[in-house]
Amino acid sequence: MRELYLKAPAKINLALHVKGLREDGFHELQMIMQSISLADRIKLKKKSGGIIVKNSHTELPTGRENLAYQAAEIFFKNNPEINQGVEIYIEKNIPIAAGLAGGSTDAAAVMKGLYLLFELEYDLKELRSFLENIGSDVPYCLEGGTVYASGRGEILEELPFIGEKYLVVVTPAFKISTPEVYKLYDQIKGYDKFDFDSVQNNLKNDQEIDWELDYKNDLKKAAEKICPEIKEIKDIFKNTKAEFTMLSGSGPTVFSIYSSRELAEKAAARWPRKNDFVTVARTVPSY
Ligand code: C5P
Repeated sequence: MRELYLKAPAKINLALHVKGLREDGFHELQMIMQSISLADRIKLKKKSGGIIVKNSHTELPTGRENLAYQAAEIFFKNNPEINQGVEIYIEKNIPIAAGLAGGSTDAAAVMKGLYLLFELEYDLKELRSFLENIGSDVPYCLEGGTVYASGRGEILEELPFIGEKYLVVVTPAFKISTPEVYKLYDQIKGYDKFDFDSVQNNLKNDQEIDWELDYKNDLKKAAEKICPEIKEIKDIFKNTKAEFTMLSGSGPTVFSIYSSRELAEKAAARWPRKNDFVTVARTVPSY
């Protein structure tokens, strides 16, 4: 095999609870992660040596700062018998620094893709441990799906797929810094109570999601303070017959879930804020 094409899906958070600040500076989290059909496309091509990253987005770094580059570096370090390199091309469809794990999913896809390209077997657990050094969401992105994530976000427990649901994803043209959101969260705090057990039980045992439970995001207050447009976007969603609206990760992306594809398409087609990234997507199972 000389080249390989891969899809790298984005994620949303259906719930995000911050349990506390850890000694290593990260926060102890409880999250429900869900992958969606919005995806980057990645092409891997063997070359004689070295790592090259190219992409369709001028703002993305192509050197070591790119998480996909880091994933390739870890791959070659752990497989020294391979004396070739790779050219990585990323077609960027997922908004950058948006709370959708865009960079993380590219890194996970590149790691998995390199094992496929060079026809090597891999152990999922081992890949996850390689990837947690790149970022907290990267291990999840290896397989995606509906997942309960804890610790920094790297301890994963697969849940039953919530089924195909249509959503509208809206990202304002505002790049948010995740560390800044967490820092502000530490100062102002979010919710004091979060019944995560009921959320987990709902997802494990019931056919339908009860959105009245604590499907919420502790980072909401901090993210809205940093980016007031989040509130404006949520207000617009209120008039679109959405079942559920929430901030994804540390934002600024907001998504709404609808009972039908038609309702989602209508909401997206009538979106009034012209500078936002707006797309209709659907939830996808693990891949
Ligand atoms: O792990 P990742 O590099 O994606 O994290 C980016 C930043 O988000 C961290 O530097 C930290 O400020 C914050 N973070 C955190 N606790 C987590 C995950 C991320 O404080 N569990």
